[in-house]
Amino acid sequence: MELYGLEKNRLPTHVAIIMDGNGRWAQLRGKTRLEGHREGTNSVKTTVEISRDLGIRYLSLYAFSSENWNRPHDEIAGLMGLLEKFLQRELDRMMCEGVRLMAIGDRTRLPASVRRVLDHNIYLTRHNTGITVILALSYSGRSDIVQTVREIAWKVKTGQCEPGEIDESMIAANTETGSIPDPDLLIRTGGEMRISNFFLWQIPYTELYITPKFWPDFCGQEYIQALLEFQRRKRRFGKTDEQLLQGLG
Ligand code: FPP
Repeated sequence: MELYGLEKNRLPTHVAIIMDGNGRWAQLRGKTRLEGHREGTNSVKTTVEISRDLGIRYLSLYAFSSENWNRPHDEIAGLMGLLEKFLQRELDRMMCEGVRLMAIGDRTRLPASVRRVLDHNIYLTRHNTGITVILALSYSGRSDIVQTVREIAWKVKTGQCEPGEIDESMIAANTETGSIPDPDLLIRTGGEMRISNFFLWQIPYTELYITPKFWPDFCGQEYIQALLEFQRRKRRFGKTDEQLLQGLG
């Protein structure tokens, strides 16, 4: 298997990506924003394929935020159409390559036709073991936390747990990403230095990699660069270098 100079045993388990810059990519070329999003689907395919080939277990893609509902109606409709076609077209490949699809976010706001194909693909791919691709659609990190608080408050109210029993693992288990480990690496394309209401609870010690490349230009080589950079990082999780060297903790 091609490893592109990466160390096999130091790959991230979970990569999350904020796919930004489709609009600017299109504007630079005198194309419509939708053409930028369409071009962006190629980068989605490339990143899923490389992640799967490398043995990365989880790939989370921020495809549509709760705030994106405020965009012009035409752009939203175009994006939803793209998503629907993409999911229809890619099902066979997902099955062949062992991709398990999951979705997080408020699916009730998605058009029925998108929900249908999304649910269909999630169901059919549920036993695949190659890689889990988590699509964040109509997702908001803060809403995820609000929903989690509500669920735990309900458990307290109905006597299923005491307030003193609430701990980090209980909160984590009740977020939308539940059993999925926190991302090791968060990539943002398009150069903006912010999280944009993506994972908030999930990224306390996630390594951040921000590239000015627009999402449609984020090719395989760019992804490998991000992974190589990740492998150069020293992850201390609050400890000192000396502690890490001595293998303490
Ligand atoms: C941000 O770029 C991108 C989005 C809001 C949509 C991302 C969607 C895709 C990559 C295609 C469909 C997704 C899948 C999973 C098939 P932007 O429009 O904010 O770009 P800008 O900052 O340059 O305006």
